[in-house]
Amino acid sequence: MTASADEVKRAAALLRAGGVVAFPTETVYGLGAEATNLEAVRRVFAIKERPTDHPLIVHLATAQGLEDWARDIPATARLLAGTFWPGPLTLVLPRQPRVLDAVTGGQDSVALRVPAHPVARDLIAATGTLVAPSANRFGRVSPTTAQHVRDELESKVDMILDGGPCRVGVESTIVSLLHGKVVLLRPGGLSVEALESTLHQKIEMAPPTGYKVRVPGTLASHYAPATPLEIHPADALGRRALQRIRQGHKVAVLKLGADDEGFASSGIMTFPMPTGAGEYGRVLYATLHRLDHAGLHAVLVEAPPDTPEWLAVRDRLTRAACNLPKA
Ligand code: TXA
Ligand code: MG
Repeated sequence: MTASADEVKRAAALLRAGGVVAFPTETVYGLGAEATNLEAVRRVFAIKERPTDHPLIVHLATAQGLEDWARDIPATARLLAGTFWPGPLTLVLPRQPRVLDAVTGGQDSVALRVPAHPVARDLIAATGTLVAPSANRFGRVSPTTAQHVRDELESKVDMILDGGPCRVGVESTIVSLLHGKVVLLRPGGLSVEALESTLHQKIEMAPPTGYKVRVPGTLASHYAPATPLEIHPADALGRRALQRIRQGHKVAVLKLGADDEGFASSGIMTFPMPTGAGEYGRVLYATLHRLDHAGLHAVLVEAPPDTPEWLAVRDRLTRAACNLPKA
């Protein structure tokens, strides 16, 4: 059920009055507050229980707002914004003085994005500019439906706008354009190939040492579901699951594609996952949310292919997993 024009109007009025409203974007649901309202921004941190030095993304209605929030904008930024906005791409640029320290965690840069979801666009057009971290408590799985937000934050926010299930399902790709470089800070809904083929250049895949940025997505505990999640190669998956079941554990298995090995018929609770990276990303968080309420001892996930299009999914799974070394 997508929010009506009246509901969007009511949400915009709440935001203009300093309220906090959860709203849909094409990636995940965001926890919105006016980016220029210090009290409202502080409430977002409090509701999420997020450390105050972890910066927020500023969401703009259109790319025309870029100059108001960023300075020294390189041609690469204009090219990426012109090509991919509105869409699942966040650009990190030097900030304008008007950007609140509370938004950037005191850093001299700001993260900017123009989301594509029609409800998000209408809401931002009616309010100006919104900060919007994912609408979950710090360190938890991001919400991809309004119900996920209700389950976790209903009593804490002024309103939740429903825009249906998110089309992309994983957070935006974050690219830093500071210091004349193009650096991937977080893989996400927009592929690295798409970025590279537009820029005609390779993107650095990780911040080099000494490159000081704070990204909560890089914390080991981030994106963690409450139920322990383990990643296993395809050939070990069934064996591991059966071992656990014999120990009396209740487990679920997320396998790629159809249950050809007949896991289900040997008593393993089996969830066939999409074999395409985009479709897998779309359903991943919803699957984790659902399994978090199933009283399981563990979720055993088949490792997705180690190819570029699976970068964002592998990143989120690795951060959620308890059996892998954290990067
Ligand atoms: O898809 C998305 O980006 C979603 C939707 C709601 O738009 N938002 C989202 O926000 O994922 P959040 O707060 O969960 O993640 C924001 C990320 C964090 O990893 C943060 O560190 C990074 O953006 N970030 C924000 N400002 C930054 C800056 N100035 N430099 C480096 N990273 C920054
Ligand atoms: Mg988040």
